Parts: sequence; structure tokens; C-alpha cells
Amino acid sequence: MLRKTLLWLSRQPRIWRFAGTNRLARSVASRFVAGQSPESAVAAAVALKAKGITTSLDVLGESVSEAAAADAAAAEYRTVLDRMAAADVEVNVSVKPTQMGLDLDPALCERNLQCIIDRARALKGFVRLDMESSAYTQRTLDLFERLRPEADGGVGVVIQAALRRSTEDVEHLISRSARVRLCKGAYLEPAAVAYPEKADVDAHYQRLMERLLVSGNYPGIATHDERLIRHAQRFAESNGIGRERFEFQMLYGVRRDLQDQLRSAGWRVRVYVPFGTQWYPYLMRRLAERPANIAFILGSVIREGISRRSIPS
Ligand code: FDA
Repeated sequence: MLRKTLLWLSRQPRIWRFAGTNRLARSVASRFVAGQSPESAVAAAVALKAKGITTSLDVLGESVSEAAAADAAAAEYRTVLDRMAAADVEVNVSVKPTQMGLDLDPALCERNLQCIIDRARALKGFVRLDMESSAYTQRTLDLFERLRPEADGGVGVVIQAALRRSTEDVEHLISRSARVRLCKGAYLEPAAVAYPEKADVDAHYQRLMERLLVSGNYPGIATHDERLIRHAQRFAESNGIGRERFEFQMLYGVRRDLQDQLRSAGWRVRVYVPFGTQWYPYLMRRLAERPANIAFILGSVIREGISRRSIPS
């Protein structure tokens, strides 16, 4: 019930506006968001690189309702790509199609994504299309096919184990040598399209993960689920799948202990680093994944002092 409420709250624009100006909410967000500017996000990427961890930067924002906002977000992505290259961190970003205008005009969205992909390609970088709710799954996969006409390693997509259709999608993407990030899925979905029980999502994740480890093109195993991570390690070792053939991916601020532990043990780890002013829906999804975070973060905010931990404007 709490998860559903938090996910419902994540879709309320009026509350976004209130939270954006609220100091306590901003303090809470700072746990999961690497500041508001490209500089702060690149600084986070540089710090992670020093530990041997790679990153994918995400300019927070989604469901834009004006073309100018989509164009501005695309321009910000190009700035971020340049800054990553200048700071000598691996050039890698994750982008939400609705932030590029998918709801407004599919052609606008495609143009914006193409500009980002062109700039990334010039910098030998990588662009991942994040996956949003099931209302966008097919459109996102279609966009991916169009933006990556050849077997191009510079563009990737995301598959959500929560969705029933993902078994077929994974097989299709494997046949196209596509770069896939596998996650569980962060959105509230109807039972007609998604598994309502967590145990079924986890079992589906494990099956898809095994398929991608055996036949995928450098899959991203995006989860903090230690049982699945340990299973991936054992599965890779017993099937002769080298550590260079895939990577684990985790979110900024989530299970930092596990990120460090995996990296120290010689596994590849990438952290998804979101930044920007539009952090409210992202934060709500993180709280929904682990409602205990609410108490945990509020406690640490109070202990460490609100002003010190607030996201810098
Ligand atoms: P699960 O929710 O079962 O959690 C397993 C354990 O991890 C928990 O018991 C807890 O210990 C820890 N944990 C998980 N979430 C936590 C949190 N927020 N705070 C603290 N601890 C937490 N989704 C999507 O729909 N589209 C996308 O494009 C992406 N992209 C993406 C990229 C990357 C790199 C990651 C890691 C995740 C995504 N996601 C996503 C989110 C994903 O779908 C999922 O909602 C979260 O990763 C949580 O699921 P877990 O796999 O971690 O398992």
C-alpha cells in the first residue's frame, strides 16, 4: 500500500512543484541525487572513477509538456557529454524518451535523441534509452531500432523483468546484438502486463539475466538484489563467462557498500548518477522501492544537519 501511495505521489505535478522548493525534501533527495548542476554530477563521476567504478549520468526530468523544455534537456545532455569527455571520465548517459518530448511529438523526440547520440558518438561515448512505464515500452523499443539501424554498440536500451512481454523482447534484442540493461522495473503496472508478485518478478529477472549472460551483448545487470548478484557471479563462473562480458549496475547512493565490495573483488560496476532540479519523481520511486528509506534518511538528515546535506542550488 505504501509503495502504491509513493508511486502515485511520484506522478502528481503539483506536489513536484511544492517539493522542489522545500528544504527538507531537497535534503532527503541529496542522498540519491548528485546535485543540481553538470559540474556536481561530473565531480561525482570523477570520484567514482577513482574507485574504479564507471558511471552513466542522467539529467533528471520526464514527461515534458513543452517542446522548449525537451530541446533544453537535449542541450543539457550535450553539455554533459562534453564535460564528461573534458574530465576524462567514460562518456555515458541515460535518457528518458518522455524528457525528449515523446508525449508531445515523436519526431521531436527522435530528433533530440539523435542529436545526443551524434554528440556521444563523436566522443566515442554511449547513450542508454531508459525504460519508463509500460505505456512507452513499444514506442521506446521502436525508437531504439530506428536510432540504431546497424549493430551499433553506442546505443542501448532497458528491459524490465516486471513485464510479462520481456521474455520475447529479450530474445529479439539478443538476435539484434543489442546492448541491454536488465532491471526489475520501477513503475506501478496493471496485472495484465506485469507480474503482481515480487517473487515472480525476481524469478523472471533470473531467467532473463541468465539468457543475457549467455547470449547478450555486454548486458548491464542492474539490481541491488544481493541474491541475484551472487547468482550472476556463480552462473558466470560455472559457464565460463568472463567478467569483461557484462557489468553490474547500481543507483547512486544505493548499497554503496555492495558497489565497493564488488569492485574490490574485481567485478565491473557502473553507477547511475542522476542530477538536476527535476528530482522529485525519481526520489519517490526510490522511496517506493524501500519505504524504510523514509525513516532512515529522515534520521540521517536530522543527525547531520539539514543545511549541510541540502542539494546545492
Ligand atoms: P529490490 O527492489 O528487490 O531490492 C533488493 C534490495 O536492494 C533491497 O532489499 C534493498 O536492500 C536494496 N534496495 C533496492 N532499492 C533500494 C533503494 N531505493 N534504497 C535502498 N536500498 C534499496 N527502472 C525502470 O523502470 N527503468 C529504468 O530505466 C531503470 N534504470 C535503472 C538503472 C539502474 C542502474 C538501476 C540499478 C535500476 C534502474 N531501474 C530502472 C530501477 C529498477 O527497476 C528497480 O526499481 C530498482 O533497482 C530496485 O530494484 P532492485 O533490483 O534493486 O531489487
